[in-house]
Amino acid sequence: KDLAHIRNFSIVAHIDHGKSTLADRLIQATGALTEREMKEQVLDSMDIERERGITIKAQTVRLIYKARDGEEYVLNLIDTPGHVDFGYEVSRSMRAVEGSLLVVDASQGVEAQTLANVYQAIDADHEIVPVLNKIDLPAAEPDRVREQIEDVIGIDASEAVLISAKTGLGIPDVLEAIVTRLPSPKGEAAAPLKAMLVDSWYDAYLGVIVLVRVIDGVLRKGDRIRMMQTGAIYQTDRVGVFTPKMLETDVLGPGELGFLTASIKQVRDTRVGDTITSERGGCAKPLPGFKPAVPVVFCGLFPVDSADFEDLRDAIEKLALNDASFTYEMETSAALGFGFRCGFLGLLHLEVVRDRLEREYEIDLITTAPSVVYHLHMTDGSMREMHNPADMPDVVKIDRIEEPWIRATILVPDDFLGDVLKLCQERRGIQMDLTYAGSRAMVVYRLPLNEVVFDFYDRLKSVTRGYASFDYQMDGYEAGSLVKMQILVNEEPVDALSTIVHRDKAEMRGRSMCEKLKELIPQHMFKVPIQAAIGGRVIARETISALRKDVTAKCYGGDVTRKRKLLEKQKAGKKKMRQFGKVEIPQEAFINALKMD
Ligand code: GTP
Repeated sequence: KDLAHIRNFSIVAHIDHGKSTLADRLIQATGALTEREMKEQVLDSMDIERERGITIKAQTVRLIYKARDGEEYVLNLIDTPGHVDFGYEVSRSMRAVEGSLLVVDASQGVEAQTLANVYQAIDADHEIVPVLNKIDLPAAEPDRVREQIEDVIGIDASEAVLISAKTGLGIPDVLEAIVTRLPSPKGEAAAPLKAMLVDSWYDAYLGVIVLVRVIDGVLRKGDRIRMMQTGAIYQTDRVGVFTPKMLETDVLGPGELGFLTASIKQVRDTRVGDTITSERGGCAKPLPGFKPAVPVVFCGLFPVDSADFEDLRDAIEKLALNDASFTYEMETSAALGFGFRCGFLGLLHLEVVRDRLEREYEIDLITTAPSVVYHLHMTDGSMREMHNPADMPDVVKIDRIEEPWIRATILVPDDFLGDVLKLCQERRGIQMDLTYAGSRAMVVYRLPLNEVVFDFYDRLKSVTRGYASFDYQMDGYEAGSLVKMQILVNEEPVDALSTIVHRDKAEMRGRSMCEKLKELIPQHMFKVPIQAAIGGRVIARETISALRKDVTAKCYGGDVTRKRKLLEKQKAGKKKMRQFGKVEIPQEAFINALKMD
């Protein structure tokens, strides 16, 4: 297809505003799939994604559309992930297309995620077509929402397309708007090959599948290609497009979006944002803005039942095949036995991986306290990275500890500004900027990542009732007054609960953890002291009182088989316990103890 007959676009929307429903309608209206193939929601098929309302892997579909001008157009829709941990992936997907449909639920109006994503689209110089969805609802207020889009986002919404993705009303107008209002891509077929690696994933039959956007030149089946960032050379064995089924076309010209396979073994051999060129006579300069994916949050994953270790290893290896930003290595813990120390892009990424391990692979896991990567500057002048507080060397050998900082941008409606500032302040934040856009404030804070990893995002959502949007970038390392805090349960240190905390916060943190653990650990036949300590010094203490005799008789009575049955039941059910010395600690305690209210 010539460039004038191509349109590449993404759909930007807040969760539940109808992105998937609209995408399905567009696929249906252009006849890309038969009714039977449509199933429910094609583009958003992973269970976890659907349940959590987030899209993790970008997916793409090519639609053939006969426009009202009588010409046939190729419309490439790229689906983008919608969460801060995947912000870099979103920004790359946005760079791969020229326009966006901004879908806003006409009964709800603009919401936090709409903003975060639309700014990414504006950053990528997109032409944006506002689409007001759900106008079939009696509560729809298209006029108010149109005005709100203009006020808050600052784009013209007078020609917003009114639709109901549910009933199909207005869908032809959306297709027509894509053709008439979005720009066609630019590119030179005669120039050396220059293509962006937008995404990649592992397929059991084909190996790694790479989603590419050709900028200049032509990508052909059989070409020898070079990844400019990694330097790796491959020969393509398949080149094609998604309809959304894979269709081999053997060539992709400038402006086109499609896939290649090249006997690439692992997803980690491909880097999102890398530039693909020809092995010989390639382009001179790679595309700007490439960033390697670096895990910033680490935690230990251990099987509740140590007999599941091999299964966990298999599951982790399989997951890593498809997720280049997830790293792992074996770890042994005195209390938890064998497990893995894993690295993630952020907390949500951690939760997604953990959920998949538990659900898809049916392994009960203990997740230890998430930790950031500290730089330990030793008295002998060397520097070590520390991924795990349990590995902290003797303090006398440490000159100083540096921790990572982030630069966070938070968009929030005026009413909640005070709460957001308070939250950032509590987390050792330093305010950098505060500006207004309509009735929304944009606050920029520098924050230690250590204060953000546990529950900052949850807290932000709860104090703003979901109206704040949050995005961050890493912003260097700085020395801090940091100490290792240990938790002792029944006088035994539990290494999985060790954390690095700021000295000024240690006491508060210690007290809160002890209080939490008191709630989370069930009563035993004896008193269980819970202590927080720095070095040898106890800074907080709680005691779980012993069970009274009569209660004991009921659950832990002399009958051994009964006790065993009970334990087995607990293992199978929600309350998964782990034995520490004489004390049983439920699985959820490890993460919940670290959440602060
Ligand atoms: P995520 O995939 O969670 O990001 O959500 P989404 O933005 O893709 O929304 P989705 O398409 O899943 O739609 C969310 C809900 O709104 C679903 O229950 C849809 O059936 C419903 N919905 C979508 N479009 C319309 C519409 O035009 N009218 C009405 N009444 N409901 C709609």
